[in-house]
Amino acid sequence: MSVKNAMTADFLRSAYGGESMAHMRYLIWGDVADKEGMPNIGRLFRAIAYAEYAHADNHFRELKDQKGDFTVPAGAVFGVGNTVENLQGGIDGELHEIEQMYPVYLETARFQKEKGAERAFHYALEAEKVHATLFQKAQDIARQGKDMDIGDVHVCDICGHTTTEGLPEQCPICGAKKTAYKAFKA
Ligand SMILES: [Fe+2]
Ligand SMILES: [Fe+2]
Repeated sequence: MSVKNAMTADFLRSAYGGESMAHMRYLIWGDVADKEGMPNIGRLFRAIAYAEYAHADNHFRELKDQKGDFTVPAGAVFGVGNTVENLQGGIDGELHEIEQMYPVYLETARFQKEKGAERAFHYALEAEKVHATLFQKAQDIARQGKDMDIGDVHVCDICGHTTTEGLPEQCPICGAKKTAYKAFKA
């Protein structure tokens, strides 16, 4: 499937840009957490970075027939601080996506009957809700100077659903089987 309408295409490109930058900054912030002696929070950052890659991948593929160069404006959080501060950056970025960006992009895709973009935006919106919660939990623990006590982190390849609660039988967002999950092992 490929997008037909200019407005939805603009939003896909912007979302692709935003997810690409989120992917990269979570890898950077994960390294900071490792160096601060919080390897589990580092691993959570890397798992969520992978989920953002899955979102970027979905958006990029919806644009597969829109070939050429584009200048892409996209929102992104900047700054490198300590892990508590970096997690606040994570929370702020996810909340922006949940409360502002994806609801608007999703409504636009629906209005323009862009089924593929609608699915890509829906997957991202739902996965970001989980990310915001996980970053908040991590920050509560990091504030006490401790690392998270978590086992494997699992990320759905299809929609970016992320969980620290063990491997699900089925993805609660996209319905994929458990074989679709990538494990970030403890
Ligand atoms: Fe996210
Ligand atoms: Fe999924």
